[in-house]
Amino acid sequence: MPSLPSAFPSLPAVTARLRSAGCVFAEEEARLLVRAAPAPDDLTALVERRAAGVPLEHVLGWAGFCGLRIAVDPGVFVPRRRTEFLVRQAVALLRSARRSVGSAAGARARPTVVVDLCCGSGAIGVALAAALGRAEVHAVDIDPAAARCALRNVAGVGGRVYEGDLYRPLPAGLRGRVDVLAAGAPYVPTGAIGLLPAEARLHEPRVALDGGADGLDVARRVIAEAPLWLAPGGRLMVETSERQAPRAAEAVARAGLTPATARSEELDATVVVGTRPAPASGHPVSSGSASSSSPRSRSSTSDR
Ligand SMILES: C[S@@+](CC[C@H](N)C(=O)[O-])C[C@H]1O[C@@H](n2cnc3c(N)ncnc32)[C@H](O)[C@@H]1O
Repeated sequence: MPSLPSAFPSLPAVTARLRSAGCVFAEEEARLLVRAAPAPDDLTALVERRAAGVPLEHVLGWAGFCGLRIAVDPGVFVPRRRTEFLVRQAVALLRSARRSVGSAAGARARPTVVVDLCCGSGAIGVALAAALGRAEVHAVDIDPAAARCALRNVAGVGGRVYEGDLYRPLPAGLRGRVDVLAAGAPYVPTGAIGLLPAEARLHEPRVALDGGADGLDVARRVIAEAPLWLAPGGRLMVETSERQAPRAAEAVARAGLTPATARSEELDATVVVGTRPAPASGHPVSSGSASSSSPRSRSSTSDR
């Protein structure tokens, strides 16, 4: 390992160290690390962890997501920037549904019920709550480390976190009440795990990445049970890859939901939406339609 420059830990020295370790955004990362370190010794430790390949967000202890600072513990999936697209789509759909019911009291009488399945740090649920103003957030993860981390974030918006397999730990009273069911399930095909960047492969748990043979094993289970939990007019939002989207949309249709696919080329993000049909006389809290075009990016540094 090259020895540290004598000026260390000045900003230029930190930048040089990160650059020599192969960090593409060395200058921006150096600024964040300098700001995060209470004392020079701490800075040295942070810089060396980053130079050793630990994801920046795990070194800092947080990730930027939808303009928010989300706590991310070591071993917990780092929320990707492309997942912001799912949040934006959900918010746009909810707003358009509210506009279409005008100022009907029913539309504003209760907070939007949000379930963040496979929540990781809980970034999606927290961002939805922040954007919507009034939301009742329930977040689930099977990984105890993720559930602990999510609690740190989700408690801040008054939400609840459950540890367990998909819907299993959710309270039965949520059935038929969910307005937005967001699923950032793992969707990397097992055979492609080895191709992921080292930061993901080495620092994020397999359970957060591996979606089975075609990447859709967990998503298919989410989709199959979604109708039981969605409110009339409620929406399931599943992040997938662009290639997986048609198969995910078929599964959505098979489950009796109305499928649509939304795509952002800019973020390389694809979201498959499934809407539970609302009865004509009902007052859907969240109805509307996803733009039909056709699935994830890192919050600030690299890609999954
Ligand atoms: C790709 S990460 C996404 C995390 C978060 N939604 C985000 O976008 O940052 C997938 C998460 O799903 C969780 N997970 C995998 N299988 C699960 C299951 N059967 N039930 C609940 N959570 C699961 C993993 O522990 C991991 O935190």
